[in-house]
Amino acid sequence: MSDQVLLDIQNLSVGYLTRRGMAQAVQNVNLQIKKNEIVGIVGESGCGKSTLANAVMRLLPDGAYITEGSIKLEDTDIVTLSGETLRKFRWQEIAMVFQGAMNVLNPVKTVGSQFQHLLMAHNNAMTKAQALERAKELLRLVRIDENRLNSYAHELSGGMRQRIVIAMAIALNPKLVILDEPTTALDVIVQRSILAQIVKLKEEFGFSIMFISHDFNLVAEISNRVAVMYAGRMIELGSSTGKWGEHVHHPYTKGLIRAVPQLRATDTDEVIGIPGSLPSLLSLPEGCKFHPRCSFAKDICKLQSPPIQVIDEIQMECHLSPEELRDLNHARG
Ligand SMILES: Nc1ncnc2c1ncn2[C@@H]1O[C@H](COP(=O)(O)OP(=O)(O)OP(=O)(O)O)[C@@H](O)[C@H]1O
Ligand SMILES: [Mg+2]
Repeated sequence: MSDQVLLDIQNLSVGYLTRRGMAQAVQNVNLQIKKNEIVGIVGESGCGKSTLANAVMRLLPDGAYITEGSIKLEDTDIVTLSGETLRKFRWQEIAMVFQGAMNVLNPVKTVGSQFQHLLMAHNNAMTKAQALERAKELLRLVRIDENRLNSYAHELSGGMRQRIVIAMAIALNPKLVILDEPTTALDVIVQRSILAQIVKLKEEFGFSIMFISHDFNLVAEISNRVAVMYAGRMIELGSSTGKWGEHVHHPYTKGLIRAVPQLRATDTDEVIGIPGSLPSLLSLPEGCKFHPRCSFAKDICKLQSPPIQVIDEIQMECHLSPEELRDLNHARG
């Protein structure tokens, strides 16, 4: 991994205009992704992960607005791109595997013709034969037999479809690949084998990855750093060594880690959830957005937005002192 920043998100806010007002799905998010780095993004359903990814890809739906901040890929200001420049930028510079991506393959076209369409749309000089050759090469990269170019989506297993969508995402050699829950519909063994392959491709081609998932184990295992979102805010950003349980974390992250059964759990490890649910974006609580659900909330948490503090290289938005955070992290249960 290099130290050079590839993607630089500064103070980004994204809102959806609703009949009841602007719902801020992403709030003042700062995030940098370095060259060849994998950054994982986790958080409960509705916390803003896909909105963030769609903003980076400039694929927000109607009614969604970037209300503040900037997104840069190297020297390109993504927020100001439009028309043909934006069309070229997407897929060539940043590619995305969408949530539920297995269903994005066109059911009435062969895999081969979909590759041809994608490749030729971004390269006027490419002939059909050249596109087919490149498609074969891409299928080999994701370990799928080239005969599958003649197949239709319904003739393929879920794992194969997902591999094909990933091959399409890397077809134009993008600098950043965004994976939004890329493997949730697949069984665990297929998931792991696909992710291992993505990591290998990343090493080979040198792209960076924004990896969105609910699965903490998976994220912690494959990411260089993990960001945790809550109600649109990036409440924790830290390093991941695969030993999440041993770091000091934000109380919300700690709850999320406990909420999923750990892979190497012992009989005594508890699996408990976080009480309550995400607040409505239209009536967010004052102070720390997490305070109504936090067992450690103090008076100040109800009144003031928390400062950012850095503990052991992990950055978190929390009012608790480093000592209090260490205590709660070392306490069991
Ligand atoms: N088109 C839309 N119009 C209005 N609100 C939306 C729209 N899309 C998403 N939202 C709201 O924005 C918030 C963030 O949604 P988003 O899809 O980004 O979350 P997520 O973290 O990706 O969730 P999940 O894990 O379920 O995919 C949610 O409150 C959601 O209801
Ligand atoms: Mg999502």
